Amino acid sequence: PAGKPEAMIAELGVDVARKLPAEAAHSVTIKALKAGLGVPLNTPDDPPALGVTLKRSGLNLSNPIGLAAGFDKNADVFAAMLKFGFGFVECGTVTPKPQPGNPRPRVFRLPEDRGVINRLGFNNHGLDYFVRRLKHETVRRGPVGANVGANKANMEANTPGPDYIAGMNAVWRYADYLTLNISSPNTPGLRGLQDGDALIRLLDQCGTAAKTLDRDYGFRPVFLKVAPDLDDEAIKQIAATALNAPYLHGLIVSNTTIARPDTLNGKHKGQAGGLSGAPLMDKSTEVLKAFSGEIGDKLDLIGVGGISSGADVHAKLKAGAQAVQLYSALVYEGPGLVQRLKDELEPLLAPAT
Ligand code: FNR
Repeated sequence: PAGKPEAMIAELGVDVARKLPAEAAHSVTIKALKAGLGVPLNTPDDPPALGVTLKRSGLNLSNPIGLAAGFDKNADVFAAMLKFGFGFVECGTVTPKPQPGNPRPRVFRLPEDRGVINRLGFNNHGLDYFVRRLKHETVRRGPVGANVGANKANMEANTPGPDYIAGMNAVWRYADYLTLNISSPNTPGLRGLQDGDALIRLLDQCGTAAKTLDRDYGFRPVFLKVAPDLDDEAIKQIAATALNAPYLHGLIVSNTTIARPDTLNGKHKGQAGGLSGAPLMDKSTEVLKAFSGEIGDKLDLIGVGGISSGADVHAKLKAGAQAVQLYSALVYEGPGLVQRLKDELEPLLAPAT
């Protein structure tokens, strides 16, 4: 709430971050949050009306709005982000080995469009660091997911399977759910894992590993994160494969898009990478709806892409999502966004009288 010192520091932080290049702003934000700057000391409980239990995975959320992967790549600040009121936080993408990602600059704001283009390429500190961070904070206000991916070198060698399994083995005990990310546009070959036999093989390999982990350490829901750049045929095929997978509880729809809508105005619109934020809203919601048509209630759907209002959240829920995630809107509004969205969503959820 405004007026509290930590809220004033948070607002100041957003003003400072806005003046920096996108990636520098993000680094400063992570450092500040890690030091506790601007993090609310007391977070009010969510109203019961916002609570949801996901049908297939059983994930229990005090509100359906989550932080999408990519903000907290190294699991540094998930506890702080839960204190800002997110219902859940997804850390990662983490790869087995640390890797630097692509050359800078590699993140671009498109303020006129309320969009972001990034081609980070899975820059992260690797699994050892990530797991240390997860172990550090085991008392949490909500579920914390671990989003795992493959190192660039192993993608190039066409051996991604072992990387996903290494990720699952490392994070299983310390994460509340796992996400297999096969949809980032910035690791060459990664999105090819969504295709036909490649997806069947990956989900078989990961499913076998998951069953052993489940037996040894207990149940964890596993999600698959997909791209928005899919035609009807690809959606049908992915949905059928997901429904037949040995150990999978839901889909996260969607990652960033490689498309560039004609409506873009930002001077960086020609930059290579994945586009997110407002220009992704309609497209990702359409793809979500198409997946929902194929999958119904048999798998959980988490809707992501372009959310910046309670009405946007509501649109994803109506399109078949049980929960949602966001990232880009935070770049423009800061963490105060979370409370606004919850305030806007609650009346929209009220049963018609
Ligand atoms: C992302 N996103 C992302 N997704 C993922 O699965 N792993 C990752 O490491 C990242 N990294 C990442 C970095 C940056 C700078 C951005 C903007 C996004 C994608 C993100 O989780 C989400 O799917 C999309 O951004 C769409 O949601 P928004 O941003 O439109 O709310």
